[in-house]
Amino acid sequence: MDSKSYRLDRFIQKTKDIPVKRVRHLIAQRRVLVDGQLATSIHQQINQFTHVTLDGQCLKDEKPLYVMLNKPKGIVSATKDVQHKTVIDLLPSDLQDKLHIVGRLDFNSTGLILLTNDGRWSKAINNPATKLPKYYRVTVDKPLEPHLIDAFLKGFYFAYEQVTTQPAALAIIAPFVAEVTLTEGRYHQIKRMFGHFQIEVLTLHRFAVGNLHLDTTLKEGEHRVLSEEEASATLGDLATR
Ligand code: URA
Repeated sequence: MDSKSYRLDRFIQKTKDIPVKRVRHLIAQRRVLVDGQLATSIHQQINQFTHVTLDGQCLKDEKPLYVMLNKPKGIVSATKDVQHKTVIDLLPSDLQDKLHIVGRLDFNSTGLILLTNDGRWSKAINNPATKLPKYYRVTVDKPLEPHLIDAFLKGFYFAYEQVTTQPAALAIIAPFVAEVTLTEGRYHQIKRMFGHFQIEVLTLHRFAVGNLHLDTTLKEGEHRVLSEEEASATLGDLATR
C-alpha cells in the first residue's frame, strides 16, 4: 500500500529553505537521488517513505514501522496518561515517539494492539468503510442465548452517536463465552451491545485484526515488529486497492 504522495521539488524547497527555482537547477544538475535513482523531474512524486539525498546528504529516510503488542489489563490505549501506564510506555524508547496507535482497546480489555508510523495503513484498518474485521473473545455474566446472534447482525441504535451499528457476527462458543466480529470501533461498542440485554462483559480480548492474529507466544505487555509483508497481508485485498 503506497503512502500519500507529494511533490519532490516542494519537499526539497521546504527542507532546505531554498527557492523552487534553485531546486529545479539541483535536479537538472543530477544532484538529487530518489530511492537511489537520479531524480527525473521536478514534478516527481514522493511519499512518506521515499529516500531522498542531495549531493549525497540524506534529506529523508523514514522506514515504515508496524508493531503488534499484547495489551494487558489496566493499560491505557493512549500516548500519554497522567495516572496510568500506556501502551506506548510498554515499548522501548527508540520506538516510543515514532508510532501512533491503530484503534484502541478499553482500559480493562486485553490483546492485539497495532502501532505504526504509516498513516495509510492505520486509516485502512480504522476506517469503517473498509469493513476490515476485528475479532474479540468475550466472557459474560449470563448464559448466552441464540436470539443475540440476530440482534448483533441487525445492529443497535446508539442514541449518543445517533447511529446504528454495522452488522456484527456473534458466535456462541460456550454458555458464557462468545466471539464477536466487528467492522467498526465505537466507544465501548461490545459492552454496550451486550448491555442492551443487561449482560455484563467480564473479559474482552482482541485476538485478530484482518488477517493478522496475535502471536500466542507473545506474553502480556510484549511486542513484536511486523514485516512489511505481514502488514500488507493484514489488510488482505485492501492492500492492493
Ligand atoms: N468493545 C468494547 O466494549 N471494548 C473494547 O475494548 C473493544 C470493543
